Order: sequence, then structure tokens, then C-alpha cells
Amino acid sequence: MVTVRKRTLKVLTLLVLFIFLTSFFLNYSHTTVATTWFPKQMVVELSENFKKFMKYAHRPCTCARCVGQQRVSSWFDERFNRSMQPLLTAQNALLEEDTYSWWLRLQREKQPNNLNDTIKELFQVVPGNVDPLLEKKSGGCRRCAVVGNSGNLRESWYGPQIDGHDFVLRMNKAPTAGFEADVGSKTTHHLVYPESFRELGENVSMVLVPFKTTDLEWVVSATTTGTISHTYVPVPAKIKVKKNKILIYHPAFIKYVFDNWLQGHGRYPSTGILSVIFSLHICDEVNLYGFGADSKGNWHHYWENNPSAGAFRKTGVHDGDFESNVTATLASINKIRIFKGR
Ligand SMILES: *[C@@H]1O[C@H](CO)[C@@H](O)[C@H](O)[C@H]1NC(C)=O
Ligand SMILES: *[C@@H]1O[C@H](CO)[C@@H](O)[C@H](O)[C@H]1NC(C)=O
Ligand SMILES: *[C@@H]1O[C@H](CO)[C@@H](O)[C@H](O)[C@H]1NC(C)=O
Ligand SMILES: *[C@@H]1O[C@H](CO)[C@@H](O)[C@H](O)[C@H]1NC(C)=O
Repeated sequence: MVTVRKRTLKVLTLLVLFIFLTSFFLNYSHTTVATTWFPKQMVVELSENFKKFMKYAHRPCTCARCVGQQRVSSWFDERFNRSMQPLLTAQNALLEEDTYSWWLRLQREKQPNNLNDTIKELFQVVPGNVDPLLEKKSGGCRRCAVVGNSGNLRESWYGPQIDGHDFVLRMNKAPTAGFEADVGSKTTHHLVYPESFRELGENVSMVLVPFKTTDLEWVVSATTTGTISHTYVPVPAKIKVKKNKILIYHPAFIKYVFDNWLQGHGRYPSTGILSVIFSLHICDEVNLYGFGADSKGNWHHYWENNPSAGAFRKTGVHDGDFESNVTATLASINKIRIFKGR
């Protein structure tokens, strides 16, 4: 009996190994089948395939649930594109023609300067390679808090919970000083555009979201000569943020959020939804704070005392309802968690 079992086990093991190897070759090789099985060549091809395999294999993530995991929800898989790069670098800066013309229309900029020249200038000032912090470490579980600016954070006492995350992303004018108990004090990344800029803490990475060519020129200007002080409103001529702490949100990623996630709703995505989708790509676990209205239905910022200050929601530029539906759906399939505050 024992030997029979042992033999069955052996056969099974071999079978599993065979299936694994076959599927490995079928998935990761388009050439092996046709070529001769010459040992030396096989070794070379095996190592090539192994390299390919490592490149495409899912980055290991040790969270109980990993946000980028596919085949959990077809709704998610239809929208999420792992290959999209969230940040602009010197290597991926060339925009496709339709992306560029879409992006140019966002702010109806008159006579923009040449984008190639602007980007070249930009990367002479800010680093052209990706923030090492953003490259996922192999293994581990990167937990991110995306903190919106809703009044529902008031008296939420979320501060310590928010600060407990590896990354804390904030956006636009959001202050922390004076609101630490509710919103926390830690920030690793702050998403802004020139008109929404606020001075940031020493070690905070500024993620500039460019909606027009001038925004990229402003980064250069604001960290050097200070010549740009006005876009469609006054903007800070000089900023204290260190050049090596500046990252640029990729214009093609803005279009990806608009096309894949918002399915063309609104004129273009808000900083809020841009932060959420950004985090899906750089984090393993995503928790949202300060999104949506407060319990009384008011849409104001947590640092404002005017509960009716929700006019920004009705500007027609962003489709707030559709964006909320996207985050609510992400939560309903357990990709993210939304902490609703008060
Ligand atoms: C995903 O993004 C890559 C890189 O931009 C693109 O080449 C590819 O076509 C996209 N895939 C889908 C299914 O849209
Ligand atoms: C930028 O350069 C690329 C390739 O050199 C070119 O195809 C494209 O038209 C240029 N874009 C602009 C806005 O000048
Ligand atoms: C910024 O980072 C440096 C080096 O890690 C550290 O010594 C310093 O305390 C940090 N400053 C703040 C304000 O967190
Ligand atoms: C999102 O909108 C769709 C279509 O209107 C609706 O069926 C769905 O219930 C909404 N999802 C959530 C989570 O609100």
C-alpha cells in the first residue's frame, strides 16, 4: 500500500511539474517551440524567459488583499491597466498625438510653448527618473491613506490612524497644522497644480498635476527665476519645495483616468479621483479619508467654517457624482476602504 501511494505521489508530482513547465513555456515564450532543443540554446532561452517572467510576474504583495490583484472583479480588470506609468520621466515623456491634443484642450491654452522643449527644460531642473520611494519594494505590504478635503473629517479623530500608513497622500490647499487630531500630521505625497499650491513640509514630495503647458513651465520658474506669477489667477512666483522632491503626474495617466475610469464623464478628472487611481498603481492597500459630503450633506473643506461652501462641486468641470460612483464601486468590490467620517 505504502509503495503504491508513494508512486502515485511521484507521478502526481511529475505531472504537476510537467503542467507547470508547459504552461510556463506557453505563456512566456513564443520562440522555444519552433527552435531545436539544443542544450546550450535552451539554457539561454530559459534564462531569457526567466527574466521575462520576473518582469511580468506580479510584484509580491503580502497584504491580506492586494489592490492590483486581477481576476477578482471584471469591472476592475476592464479599467485597471498595470502598464500605465503614473509619473512623467525623461524616458516616457513622449506623448502620443491624440493624448497631446486631448491634454491641450483641457484648459484651452492659447499658443502654448512647444511641449518637447518645455519637458526638456523641466528635466534639467527636476530629476527625470522616478522617485525611488515610488518603486515598489519586492515583498511587503504598502498601505496608503488618500486624504481628501471633505468636512466629514471634522471631529473624526482619524489622525493617528491616517499617520499609521506608509504613504499619506494629500491634495491641493489641505493644511495639517491645527487639524492633526482629525487629519493626521504625516504627508508623503501632496498633489497640486500651480493654482492650488500650498507650501509643503520639508520631506514631502510634491506631485504636480499638469493641466497645461504653463504648469510645467511654472515648476521651472518657481524653483529658479520666479518669472511666472500669474496664470489665470495669481500663483506663487517662488516655492520652497526642493527640486529633488518634485514629481510630475503623467498627462497620459490623466487621460487614462478619464477614459478608463471616468469613461469620459465631466470635462476632466478632479485631483481627488486622480489621487485615488494614482494610489491604486503605487500602493498595495488603499484607504480613503475625507471624500464625499459630511453627514449633513454639506460639501465644504475641513478647514473652512462655511458649510455651504460647496460651489466648486457645481462648476461643471468635474463629474462629482460619477467620480463618487467609481470610488463607491471600488469599495464595494473591496479594492479600497472608504472611511466616511462624520
Ligand atoms: C495599457 O497601457 C499600455 C501602455 O500605455 C498600452 O500600450 C495598452 O494598450 C493598454 N492596454 C489596454 C488594454 O488598454
Ligand atoms: C515632440 O517630438 C516628437 C518626436 O521627436 C514629435 O513627434 C512630436 O511632434 C513633438 N511634439 C511637439 C508638441 O512638438
Ligand atoms: C526629514 O528627513 C530627514 C532625514 O530623513 C529627517 O532627519 C528630518 O527630521 C525630516 N524632517 C521632517 C520635518 O520630518
Ligand atoms: C454606480 O452607478 C451605477 C449605474 O447608475 C449603479 O447601478 C450602481 O449601483 C452605482 N454604484 C454604486 C456603488 O453606487
